[in-house]
Amino acid sequence: MSTIEFKGLVKKYRDVTAVNELWAEAKPGRITGFLGPNGAGKSTALRCLLGLASPTAGLAQIGGKTYAQLAHPLQEVGAVLDSSGFNGSLTARQNLNIICAASGIDKKRIDEVLELVELGHVKRKRTKGFSLGMRQRLSLAVALLGNPQVMILDEPANGLDPVGIAWLRKFLRDLANEGKTILVSSHQLAEMQHTVDDVIIINNGKLVAKGTIAEITKGKSLEEAFLGLVGAA
Ligand SMILES: Nc1ncnc2c1ncn2[C@@H]1O[C@H](COP(=O)(O)OP(=O)(O)OP(=O)(O)O)[C@@H](O)[C@H]1O
Ligand SMILES: [Mg+2]
Repeated sequence: MSTIEFKGLVKKYRDVTAVNELWAEAKPGRITGFLGPNGAGKSTALRCLLGLASPTAGLAQIGGKTYAQLAHPLQEVGAVLDSSGFNGSLTARQNLNIICAASGIDKKRIDEVLELVELGHVKRKRTKGFSLGMRQRLSLAVALLGNPQVMILDEPANGLDPVGIAWLRKFLRDLANEGKTILVSSHQLAEMQHTVDDVIIINNGKLVAKGTIAEITKGKSLEEAFLGLVGAA
């Protein structure tokens, strides 16, 4: 089973401890929200999962393996970290083509994923003309290319309009219903309340709370619960 696990994860940068002894997990078939204030350590923890940062101590694992131990990483884990990595002079399809060629993914999948993220109508347009929301959707398309069992998404709703946010909510739910493991960071607490099953909250790199949305909110809004847990600014 493709459970995501942080096992005593520590990541230090010189004098900053970005992630401090984090123990938490995200389970298959569920959407897990990863919450915390700016600088809490969310992106750092996700980068450790994706092999983009190496833990100082502890483990960040997917299905019991580190990213480096995965045989076919793009077929096992899809990730949206930031949406700036596209070649602007190439079209959406051409950008995905390069990724397929580099990773051995069947190119038939390109048009499928572009339809899934509703970019089919602009797939022959150069990405330098894409809005932030269109780039976010294209990042999601990349994440889906290998039809992975696990999705790791760092603020995927950034730049999406209300229609896009509602679309993303249903999109993530459909993936979870297929049994996929979804770990998603966000600052949009009202939206997260209606999207996630489980919540992990960190602050200053440390775990503050984890549990089901009902256990965390205890009848309050997620925003109230969050501010109570991490302290109102
Ligand atoms: N490459 C790096 N070098 C040095 N310090 C870093 C590096 N990456 C992150 N940090 C520090 O680690 C801490 C956690 O940063 P991180 O980006 O993980 O937070 P975050 O929870 O994702 O915040 P945000 O909500 O603003 O995206 C911050 O103090 C940040 O300055
Ligand atoms: Mg971040």
